[in-house]
Amino acid sequence: MSSLVAHGIRTVGVLGAGQMGTGIALVSALRAKVPVLLYDRSTEQINKGLALMDKLLEKDVNKGRIESIHAKEARDRVTVVSQEDGIKGFRDVDMVIEAVSENLKLKQSIFSSFAAELRPDAILASNTSSISISKIAASAVPQNISPASEEGKKTASRVVGLHFFNPVPVMKLVEIISALQTSQDTLDRARSFAAACGKTVTTSKDVPGFVSNALLMPFINEAIMCLEKGTATRDDIDTTLKLGMNHPMGPLQLADFIGLDTCLAIQKTLYEGTSDSKYRPSILLERMVDAGWYGKKNGKGFYEYN
Ligand code: CAA
Repeated sequence: MSSLVAHGIRTVGVLGAGQMGTGIALVSALRAKVPVLLYDRSTEQINKGLALMDKLLEKDVNKGRIESIHAKEARDRVTVVSQEDGIKGFRDVDMVIEAVSENLKLKQSIFSSFAAELRPDAILASNTSSISISKIAASAVPQNISPASEEGKKTASRVVGLHFFNPVPVMKLVEIISALQTSQDTLDRARSFAAACGKTVTTSKDVPGFVSNALLMPFINEAIMCLEKGTATRDDIDTTLKLGMNHPMGPLQLADFIGLDTCLAIQKTLYEGTSDSKYRPSILLERMVDAGWYGKKNGKGFYEYN
């Protein structure tokens, strides 16, 4: 059976053209071979995303991984939604994937608009790294409908967590998160779509940080605390993990790569969601974000970037 038949997703919408959204749009067009509608409220971000996509496709062609005709076909599958249309531009998609920053209020307002503007059978997926999918699903239910009613439950049953990893074209995993409300059909189709994008899928319950960040963030935080306490230098901490444990990046470099603001947002979600002191963000991380040092994305984190 072809992947198209299995997941039944003929068109996908991607909201957010940052690193994650661009990567998700690319693997959807290139691997799952579905038409993609891409929207971001910033035209500048869209242009950056398209330029990154072109660069990655060109690299794949130059390395002989894909033929130029397939790169062109993939690129042609990606259409930008106009600023005028915004979320309304997703009205006919079978699935939308939200990939905006880790901000609960923003995500809630987006999912409420998704439910209002998209087809009633469209899957509504979030690429959140830690925010409760059950909470996001509840925001898809219109305010005049009870979340406990049949209609409310049906609306929320289409919401699922579809957590990709950065860089999306390289990382082989998608973590799927089932909200309390998510239906089996939504889960099955989301899983099948992620597989068609070339990813191995794991499933996590809807707990703060899911499996990935409930494990990764305390590790990163502990490394920052080591630096804060003067246990070792930045380079010695990272080298220890890279060479001693064969990690592709040390934890401080990885924190920069993910974004220090994103790490802090996830750590706060973990700490607030569990009240467990093991998740309390380090003061150094808080201060670096206070200082506006967000890591690789804006040039300064534990390392400097040009
Ligand atoms: N976008 C797309 N491709 C990228 C990329 C990017 N931002 N950065 C690197 N790559 C590609 C390179 O182009 C290169 O591809 P080719 O093999 O086709 O040449 C490949 O990745 C390897 O890159 P490099 O040779 O330049 O460098 P490297 O060998 O050090 O690998 C890395 C880079 C893949 C990023 C590697 O260091 C790595 O795996 N790091 C860990 C990444 C990780 O843990 N990501 C998960 C973060 S957590 C997350 O995303 C979720 C969350 O909730 C916080």
